[in-house]
Amino acid sequence: RSPGPTDRPLAGRHVLVTAGPTHEPIDPVRYLANRSSGKQGFAIAGALAGLGARVTLIAGPVTLPTPPGVDRYDVETARQMADSVAAALPADAAVMVAAVADWHVAPATQKVKKGAAPPALVLHENPDILATLSRAPDRPALVVGFAAETERVVDHARAKLARKGCDWIVANDVSGDVMGGDSNTVHLVTPTGVEDWPRAGKGEVARRLALRIAERLRGEA
Ligand code: CTP
Ligand code: CA
Repeated sequence: RSPGPTDRPLAGRHVLVTAGPTHEPIDPVRYLANRSSGKQGFAIAGALAGLGARVTLIAGPVTLPTPPGVDRYDVETARQMADSVAAALPADAAVMVAAVADWHVAPATQKVKKGAAPPALVLHENPDILATLSRAPDRPALVVGFAAETERVVDHARAKLARKGCDWIVANDVSGDVMGGDSNTVHLVTPTGVEDWPRAGKGEVARRLALRIAERLRGEA
C-alpha cells in the first residue's frame, strides 16, 4: 500500500523550526548564551518531517545530528537567526523552539585581557524573532512559540501569547532539573484554553505537537 494522507498529513506543507541557543560574542573567545541543548527543537523538526512536511530547521550552536529529511541551516547569533527565518519564508507553520539570547554586546575585535577591573558589558536588546514573524505580512498560518518557565507557568505563557501575537505557546515547566534532559512537562496554551500534557520524553512531546499542527493545518483543531 502506498503512503496515504493519514501517514503523511503534512505532505506539501513547509514548516519552519528554530532550535538551540544563540551565542552572542563578547570577543573572539567568549560569548553570552542561553541554556539549551536543542533536543526538543530537533525532535520537533524530525517529527514534522516524519509526517511528510518539508522542514527548514534553523539551528543555533548545538552538537546534534540533523534529523532525517530536514533541511538544516546553522547560525550563531540571534540577528543571524532572525535573518535566516525571514529568508526561509513563506511557510505554512513556524515552531520557534530556540532559546534566543535576549541581549547582545558590541564585541571586541581582540581578546579582552584580564586587568585590574573586570570589564562592564553594555547589553543591547536582540530582535524578537517570534513577535516579528507573528506580525509579518507573509506570516505563516500557524505560529507556535515556546516558553520555558520556572514559576506561574501558564500565567506567563498566556501573557506571552498576547504580547507576541502568536497562535499557540507551548509552555515548558523547567522548575525541576529538565534543562538538557530527555523529557518535558508542557502545557499547550491557545487563545481558547490550556491543555496539560503528561510528562513525556522529548520525542513523544514532538510527535504529539506535530500531529496537533497537522490537525490544525487541515482545519480540524
Ligand atoms: N523568542 C524569539 N526571539 C527572541 C526571544 C524569544 O523568537 N529575541 C521566542 C523563543 O524562541 C520562544 C518565545 O519567543 O518561542 C519565548 O521566549 P522567551 O525567552 O520565553 O520570551 P521573552 O519574551 O524573551 O521573555 P523572558 O523575559 O521570559 O525571557
Ligand atoms: Ca527570553
